Amino acid sequence: MSIYILGIESSCDDTSAAVSSDTNILANVVATQDIHTKYGGVVPELASRAHQQNIVPVIDIALKRANIRKNQLHAIAFTRGPGLLGSLLVGTSFAKSMALGLDIPIISVDHLDAHILAHFIQDKQQARAVPAFPFLCLTVSGGHTQIVLVKDHFDFEIVGKTIDDAAGEAFDKAAKIMGLPYPGGPIIDKYAHTGDPQAFRFPEPRVPGLDYSFSGLKTSFLYFIRDRIEENSDFIQKNMADLSASIQYTIISILMKKLRQAASLYKVRDIAIAGGVSANSELRNTLKKASAALGWNIYVPEFEYCTDNAAMIAVTGYFKYLKGDFAGQDVSPYARKSEDGSRKSEEGR
Ligand code: KG4
Ligand code: ZN
Repeated sequence: MSIYILGIESSCDDTSAAVSSDTNILANVVATQDIHTKYGGVVPELASRAHQQNIVPVIDIALKRANIRKNQLHAIAFTRGPGLLGSLLVGTSFAKSMALGLDIPIISVDHLDAHILAHFIQDKQQARAVPAFPFLCLTVSGGHTQIVLVKDHFDFEIVGKTIDDAAGEAFDKAAKIMGLPYPGGPIIDKYAHTGDPQAFRFPEPRVPGLDYSFSGLKTSFLYFIRDRIEENSDFIQKNMADLSASIQYTIISILMKKLRQAASLYKVRDIAIAGGVSANSELRNTLKKASAALGWNIYVPEFEYCTDNAAMIAVTGYFKYLKGDFAGQDVSPYARKSEDGSRKSEEGR
């Protein structure tokens, strides 16, 4: 008998619902909130309001596309954190009340764990290879940048992390400096296709161990652009492709350096990437080249499972369902996790 799980994701600015049948995804619906584009970043109050408007239709469409009736569901999995508290509250409250009405359990899911477990989503048509434990996962999103040693479905060790900005933030801030709308990562990716990655050089940070830092890069990019604009007001427009390719090259080179170190330190050859930035085409190419040179087996999620989605929440929910790991009706969201892995409820993105 298949286990049907409804997954709900509402941690930031995407409202998403998915229905899984074991590790297969029957439907994955994402409503992206365009309202934030004109503000150059996510506005928390607007995000939670949009989640409230989107959540009912998004779940309804997901169930219809999956061809699953509500009373066939075995459990509802939802993102408990980290993320924007107001946004998380919408998904959490909805999951609780819907599960109460259906008399089925709820499963709380950590958003970052789910990005990693997205690698276990199967394809009904064609079996997908999944990473073997232990593997390393570079989780790169708008809010987080981590190298995680994954020993089991639920045994994760963070071996490196950013000490300031996340990689996605570096993309988005560089894009903002160039006057591009939010989120700028995919736009930089597009412009970079026709640019020269060596056209401009930006300094790489010196951070000990496997940790990352991106705030210095943002500052040097800002000053570089400011100085060039003084000489030529059309500088950005004339060099958009080269600037995009160069900043993208620098971010990827910073990411790859520590990932290579981690792989050699932990003697791991199965390497995965996850999170919104794993949709970046050049990061995918660079990883492919590294896999050929270093003998890595690389795992890159399908595009729709890279950025925020509920399919990864449903699949993580499935693994927790098998363990009988359910949440109570008193569960509340957390905005961020502290260094020791405990959950903090104040706003933290
Ligand atoms: O995982 P995600 O959807 O949301 C968070 O949990 O943060 O990641 C969003 C981030 C944004 O910073 C966005 O600019 C970045 O992922 N991103 C990309 C690309 N697609 C999304 N960055 C670079 N290249 C892309 N193609
Ligand atoms: Zn995410």
